[in-house]
Order: sequence, then C-alpha cells, then structure tokens
Amino acid sequence: MKQKVLVTGGVGYIGSHTVVELQNEGYDVVIVDNLSNSVISVLDGITKITGIRPEFEQFDLCDSVKTTNFFQKHKEIAVVIHFAAFKAVGESVQKPLMYYQNNLISLMNILENMKRQQIQNLVFSSSCTVYGQPDELPVTEKAPIKKANSPYGNTKQISEEIIYDLICSDDNLKAIALRYFNPIGAHESALIGELPIGTPNNLVPYITQTAIGKRKELSVFGNDYHTPDGSCIRDYINVVDLAKAHVVALKRLLAKKTKQNFETFNLGTGIGVSVLEIVNTFEKSTGQKVNYKIVGRRDGDVEKVWSDSKYANDELGWKTERSLEETLLSAWNWEKQYNSKKNE
Ligand code: UD1
Repeated sequence: MKQKVLVTGGVGYIGSHTVVELQNEGYDVVIVDNLSNSVISVLDGITKITGIRPEFEQFDLCDSVKTTNFFQKHKEIAVVIHFAAFKAVGESVQKPLMYYQNNLISLMNILENMKRQQIQNLVFSSSCTVYGQPDELPVTEKAPIKKANSPYGNTKQISEEIIYDLICSDDNLKAIALRYFNPIGAHESALIGELPIGTPNNLVPYITQTAIGKRKELSVFGNDYHTPDGSCIRDYINVVDLAKAHVVALKRLLAKKTKQNFETFNLGTGIGVSVLEIVNTFEKSTGQKVNYKIVGRRDGDVEKVWSDSKYANDELGWKTERSLEETLLSAWNWEKQYNSKKNE
C-alpha cells in the first residue's frame, strides 16, 4: 500500500516542488494550505508534471477545530512535512505577533494531533537563519544558535525547541529539521516555480522580474560588507535538489534509521556566492541584462553565510546536483513561462 504524506503549505514554493518529488517516488500526498501566499493553479502544474492531482484541503492550520477534524479524517498519514509558515524577514519585524501566532500556533496544532493520532514522523522546514551571523564559516549543525535577527528567525528557533521538547517527552515521535540556506530556481519543466505575491522580497524573483521588465531595477542592498566585492554572500540551493532532500529525510524516518529522535541537517551547496555574482551569473546564463543600482544595507541582513553540508552529504547520502547556472536559467524560464500564460 502507498504511504500517505501530509504536506502542509504544499501549494507554496518549496512545498509544491516537494510534492512533485514525493509523487514521483510513489507516495500518496494530501496537501493542506490556506492559500495565504500561494495560488490554487499550482496544483495544475503539479498534476501536469506527475500525472497525479494531489488531494487538497484548504484551511488554516491555526484553526484547531479544523486541524483536529482533518487529522481524524486522515488517520492513515505516516509522515507530516510541515512547510506552512510566514517567511518574510522584513514583514516579521513590522508584525511580530502575526508571525509568532501563525508560525507557532499552527505547529502546536499539528503536533498535538500527531500525538493524538500516533503519527510518528515529522520533517520540519527550518532555516539557516537559526545561526544568525555565525562566527565560523562554513557553518555546521554544531554551530551555536545565536539570538535571532528577526521575529521570523525566532519562530524557526522556537519551533525547533518545541519539537525537541515534545520528542523528549515521547519516545515514539521522531523529527528531522532541515535548515535551508537560500532556495532558488524552479522545476525544469517551468510548470511550477516561485510565485511571490506583490513585490518580491527575495533576490532571485526580483532579478527575474527586473529582467522581464516588471520592475525597473534591482536594488543591491549594500556594497560595503567585508566580502570580496562588498555585497552579501549566501549559499543558493536549487529548489529541486532541496525538495529531493525531503524525500530522503522521510525515507530515513520511515526506515527508522535516525541516530537521534531529533536530527538537524544543513541543506546548502557549501558554496558562498555574492549578490553581484548572482547578477553576473544570471546575465551570463540567460543572456538577459539586469538593471541594478547599489543602495544602502537592508536591516536584518547578515553579511555572509554558507553551509557545511558534509553531515547531510554523509548521513543522508544526499547532495546538490544542479549548477548555479542551470538553476538561474530555470528561474528565468519559469518567469517567462508564467508571464506568457498570464498574457494569453
Ligand atoms: C532570508 C533568511 C532565510 C529565509 C529567507 C526567507 C538569513 C540568512 N536568511 O534569506 O533563512 O528563509 O530570508 O525570505 O536570514 N538582496 C538584494 N536586493 C533584493 C533582495 C535581496 O540585494 O532586492 C540581497 C540581500 O541583501 C541578501 C541576498 O540578496 O544579501 C539574499 O536575500 P534574500 O533572497 O531576501 O534572502 P535572505 O535574506 O538571505
């Protein structure tokens, strides 16, 4: 019998790519998403790629009654992959309560129901933001968790602690927290990709929207950092490579191969790339010009961070496969495809 996986936030950017990989591997998927930052047509893209339309329920996981009803209806769920959360760093500084309420209450509702229904396996969507500006680079999973730079980052730290505490109280429950670096790019089919609502906060969607003419120019936030070209450095990971890591983590849980009941893994390429290098590589791999200007630093940005992914490589047997060039090209193909569809 096929094993059933609940993917919360499965209509979103990383969620939708993960649903594709799960369905390709033969898992049955049920998505819960409130569509607060995503659009339902993503399900059409998933269906075209995989030939399977995932089961979908639209509600807010902060609603405890609806969440409990859902879990009572879907008793056969074997694993929960929890993506659904707010993720804009700047917005979280403006609206901290909204972030704490949304990201933490939904998590607690899910955990409560997992416990009640004896669902033993959780993959949690965490972030490199838990490290703040690390003292040593590349950053390993053993690096100290520093005070978060934003309420958003704090919700990820607190979420990991909540999961850890629950696991300590219950031997049956196991979780893997995946700490993503900067996910970019789109599925190679260009049928799903990142779909920011309104003005993008993140670098690559801003670049693709500038290249296609939707935005006048990209603002590069700061060129006076202590980095070779003065712009910030991040570790940009292809979203399909990232999605595949979720399937590997899920298999590890189902095969009971975890070494501890709560494990954390960095998911990155291990390579630090500056903002200006991203712009140059985008221009080279797509042949598109990106207008940009240098402006002041953005509040809350860390100067540089990239991952040591050795633990994930060795323990999970997973590594990134797609180059930065092909990843940026996939983001561009997605932008073009999406706009041509909208203009039909
Ligand atoms: C941050 C978090 C990440 C979180 C993500 C969610 C850190 C280290 N990372 O990513 O965990 O999941 O937000 O949104 O806290 N930039 C520009 N111009 C732009 C946009 C971005 O120059 O218009 C620069 C930023 O200054 C940064 C880089 O591009 O140096 C990447 O920014 P972004 O894509 O927003 O991701 P992070 O802030 O690194």
